[in-house]
Amino acid sequence: MAIELVPLPLPASADASKFEDFGREVRGVDAGNLSKEELVQIEEALYKHGALLFRDAVVTPSSSIVSPRSVATPRLASTLILIGSTCVQHFDPTSENYGHGNNKTGSTTKSILHPDLKTIPSVPQVQLIGNGTVYDHHGLAEAKLKHPSHHTFHKTVVSPADDEKGVTRYYRWHIDAALYDLNPPKVTTLYGVTVPEGPRQVVRYDDGTGEELEVPLGTTAFVSGKTMFEILPEQWKSVAVRGRVRYAPHPYVWMAPAKAMSTGLGIESDGLELGMGELPEWEEGKVKVLPLLWKNPVTGALHFQVHPCGALELLIDPLPRGASREGALYPDGAHITDLKEVRDILYKMQRPAIAPALVYPHDWRPNDFVLFHNRGVLHTVVGAFKPDQIRAFHQCNLAASDEPAGPSEEDVKKWA
Ligand SMILES: [Fe+2]
Repeated sequence: MAIELVPLPLPASADASKFEDFGREVRGVDAGNLSKEELVQIEEALYKHGALLFRDAVVTPSSSIVSPRSVATPRLASTLILIGSTCVQHFDPTSENYGHGNNKTGSTTKSILHPDLKTIPSVPQVQLIGNGTVYDHHGLAEAKLKHPSHHTFHKTVVSPADDEKGVTRYYRWHIDAALYDLNPPKVTTLYGVTVPEGPRQVVRYDDGTGEELEVPLGTTAFVSGKTMFEILPEQWKSVAVRGRVRYAPHPYVWMAPAKAMSTGLGIESDGLELGMGELPEWEEGKVKVLPLLWKNPVTGALHFQVHPCGALELLIDPLPRGASREGALYPDGAHITDLKEVRDILYKMQRPAIAPALVYPHDWRPNDFVLFHNRGVLHTVVGAFKPDQIRAFHQCNLAASDEPAGPSEEDVKKWA
């Protein structure tokens, strides 16, 4: 059967002109049994469209253990785990480790990721995430899951009265990446095993703009890194194409005491981060210095891919020879080490792209399988659940075998 690509349904809030290329539902394939040829087509589609959705992803496993207390149909879930990692591995055949390292998230208790991810013992590349208590789930006898909410991460929080009304926040805009030692995964899969139903919520930006976005309960929100670059004013495009970010060593431990901004797009500069000497042992050679713009391997487009929370320093190259200096920012280049200044610059460049009209909030249904280009989009957990709202998702990604490619010499000439 031929693969059919259907545009994703956009909410009324979305500016459709900015989503022409973004997101497709893939029809006509058995997501549980993809052939090599189909994976090649899916790979190309993913790099063109940023996120692919497979509805009712069903597979026929050869064996499984039936557990009446499991929240999932074990038959489906066990096979989907395999699909999750097989599918992901297609994009990077030599990579084997989970994006944060196999079996690392549970042991690194100081990391802010620690409570959010439970590793599936038999397939350590796959994490169980969600909300509520899940029993007998693929080797996890009992997993207490907590949907991360802004209440534990943002400097300011929504009032209890507004909470009750369903007002919420974006939790943390990010790329799935360790940002230290390991390379950012190329793709991530999310599989909705158990998806609770409930009333829609309203994301409030609370940054003085008055912006808000109505979203489905427990949505995962995506924005395009390509759009993030394309809507920048020319002088900021020039900075982006010349810029690199130096990330903190062990960034998720480093930022643990700090608090985030109300938009979830970075950290408030209150000096709460750990000092370099307070971190677990680290070495300079494993610190990540990555371009602000990552080049799409299929389309050649530039995607603004920065994890704002982990950024420590900015390095901006001088303008290339022959470029006009008129109105140029940092024409002679810069090495910015003041953390507040680094964050202010990144925020200025990234905030326009999370405006409500540019956000795709996915409306999860059970057995939705979403594959996204982790080097081409930013995403965030959204909203808050009550303890009895059970949500079980499988997440899979692999630390990549290479670093993302930055802008080419031609790109720099064109945009600087
Ligand atoms: Fe993520």
